[in-house]
Amino acid sequence: MRILVTGKNGQLGRSIQKAVNADTKIDNNQSPNDFIFVGREEMDLSSESSISFYFKNNKFDIIINCAAYTQVDKAEQEVELANQINHEAVKQLASIANNQQARLIHISTDYVFDGESNKPYLETDTRNPINAYSRTKLAGEKALQILMPMNALIIRTSWLYSEYGNNFVKTMLRHGKERDEVSVVSDQIGSPTYVTDLADAILEIIKHKKFRDVGQTTQTYNYSNEGEISWYEFAKEIFKIEKIECEVNPVTSQQYPAPAKRPRNTLMNKDKIVEVFNIKISNWKSSLNTCMAILK
Ligand SMILES: NC(=O)c1ccc[n+]([C@@H]2O[C@H](COP(=O)([O-])OP(=O)(O)OC[C@H]3O[C@@H](n4cnc5c(N)ncnc54)[C@H](OP(=O)(O)O)[C@@H]3O)[C@@H](O)[C@H]2O)c1
Repeated sequence: MRILVTGKNGQLGRSIQKAVNADTKIDNNQSPNDFIFVGREEMDLSSESSISFYFKNNKFDIIINCAAYTQVDKAEQEVELANQINHEAVKQLASIANNQQARLIHISTDYVFDGESNKPYLETDTRNPINAYSRTKLAGEKALQILMPMNALIIRTSWLYSEYGNNFVKTMLRHGKERDEVSVVSDQIGSPTYVTDLADAILEIIKHKKFRDVGQTTQTYNYSNEGEISWYEFAKEIFKIEKIECEVNPVTSQQYPAPAKRPRNTLMNKDKIVEVFNIKISNWKSSLNTCMAILK
């Protein structure tokens, strides 16, 4: 079994490496040596020739695509680059996976929804992205679904944070230590996801019989931690755990303008991934405590 993981320096790529090395989430037939992690240096997803060149001499059974253009605001200016990485490269990976008879696990986002629903989104709900980043992610999803009607899996996730890279938790910890008060939007609702939990879920899925059986139709699954909060409540909890005395002021999205519009409410229903793969989903508060204990 050869398993390729792209985005080795990103939050999810690094969290999968951590989980694989901990060795507890892979079964007896698998070893950490089965996993090959690549970054931009080995394969540049903005370059068609770089992708083709990499796969010329490398064949896999499973490809897990964790790499993406993830800068939501910058994507408004860099649409072409974002589209190349989040759409065109996914298209190419899908064709290569078909040729190699490999499974493809691709990561997508809650931002494919417009956030106007008042109940948690189902995998089948209408997608209607409201910013450039999300449009490129949706284009990636659609291309994958068309090119790979079988043997692929899309996992939509939300509000990722971890001990790696830049994310909301690390930004708040930094601001909390430097400032007396911060303003955080309180009218965007969602569920945070501790990336270690997502990495564990992916490793659970790839060892599951329902994933291993060949000839399965391509499916989409939602995954985040349990619970619903605003970014404002998230910031308050981060400071509470760390006992940081920094005032958190709730502001509306209108009072906190950003280049890219964000959806108002992207809660996702996770019943499908729980039922099909028997994934246990932690509450956001307990996972936040786990991550912050590690960050300490
Ligand atoms: N972050 C979130 O809140 C969030 C929310 C919902 C969904 N998602 C999705 O979840 C997945 C994982 O996100 P993440 O937070 O782990 O992202 P991340 O930390 O930003 O990592 C993305 C990785 O993609 C790599 N990458 C970017 N451009 C590349 C290129 N041209 N060639 C090769 N690699 C390239 C980056 O490489 P460098 O390190 O070299 O820059 C980085 O390691 C993504 O599909 C993302 O869209 C994320």
